[in-house]
Amino acid sequence: MSNSGSLIQDYINMPLNELMERADTACRKVYGSAVFIRGLLEVTNYCTMNCAYCGIRRDNAKLLRYRMSNEEILQTIKQGLHRGIKSFVLQGGVDPEFQGSKLIALADDIRNSFGSDFALTFSFGVLSYDTYRALFAAGVNRYLLRFETADATLHEALKGTELSERIRAFMHLKEIGYEAGTGFMTGLPGDSLSSNLELLASLEPDMIGIGPFIPHPETPLKHASCQGLEPTLRAVAISRLLFPYANIPATTAAGTIEQNGRELALSAGANVVMPNIGTKAYKQLYELYPGKICVSEDGFSCINCLSVRIRSVNKNLDYRRGNSRGRV
Ligand code: SAM
Ligand code: FES
Repeated sequence: MSNSGSLIQDYINMPLNELMERADTACRKVYGSAVFIRGLLEVTNYCTMNCAYCGIRRDNAKLLRYRMSNEEILQTIKQGLHRGIKSFVLQGGVDPEFQGSKLIALADDIRNSFGSDFALTFSFGVLSYDTYRALFAAGVNRYLLRFETADATLHEALKGTELSERIRAFMHLKEIGYEAGTGFMTGLPGDSLSSNLELLASLEPDMIGIGPFIPHPETPLKHASCQGLEPTLRAVAISRLLFPYANIPATTAAGTIEQNGRELALSAGANVVMPNIGTKAYKQLYELYPGKICVSEDGFSCINCLSVRIRSVNKNLDYRRGNSRGRV
């Protein structure tokens, strides 16, 4: 077993409260009480992929599909900037309307309209090296590409694509100079937490996204059991201990399976929140998993609620762009 492998195993065997305390200390040492806010825009729920766990998969014929127009996206970013948000994340399914030249034109539009005084993160799956490079040149600073599971066989069975292809794409992002984020779901049937953490450790990400898998009734995994929040808390805490400088969100999925799930993640070393700042109508349709929280209010109204929740764990919402400290 590698050095990081045996360290991860030690952490996995540690009582959860001790692990969380250590991770919280490590997080506060780097970020103090700051919790960075990212304004999330879920811009399309069209998807050509058919991931077995995902509610917006191609074969979910029950889902009403939507795409935000470039004008709607610009308008939402404008509102976010007025409220002082300095970091935006645009995410969507794998949609031909958000690929190649169209995606590059969107990045150009955003930077030409609003300048460069804020961080821009995209998350649209695996794209070509040339597209990643052109997006970076157009002013996209960060990219999120979770590997989902480190088990190559399970990965191919669930996604229909190869794990190695996703890892290669992640390495392209790093090589080009992005702040690159990856991560996984905890609790996929047949998956291994230690393998996921070992792959994560080897990738040395700037951002780490980890959330619980929540079965969706319109997917092949509808009968899978949900493993709850604990594996996510453990994985978040271990990620913080392995990468003290990484930006790690308290995910919406964590807040969905437990009412105070995001607060617990923030007490386990997470230092980022990503409220969806889109409209109610779109939020409801971006249904990756059932029961998603915050879908009955329009985006910006969630921010007040979030800042109260954050104060309850003795941290403070912070509007700075929050680069990964390893990059400064
Ligand atoms: N298309 C992009 C990609 O391929 O990376 C990003 C969109 S994808 C919907 C965003 C994330 O949602 C995935 O990385 C996955 O981890 C998460 N997700 C999808 N289905 C989920 C489920 N049933 N439970 C929890 N998280 C889920
Ligand atoms: Fe495409 Fe989930 S299957 S985003």
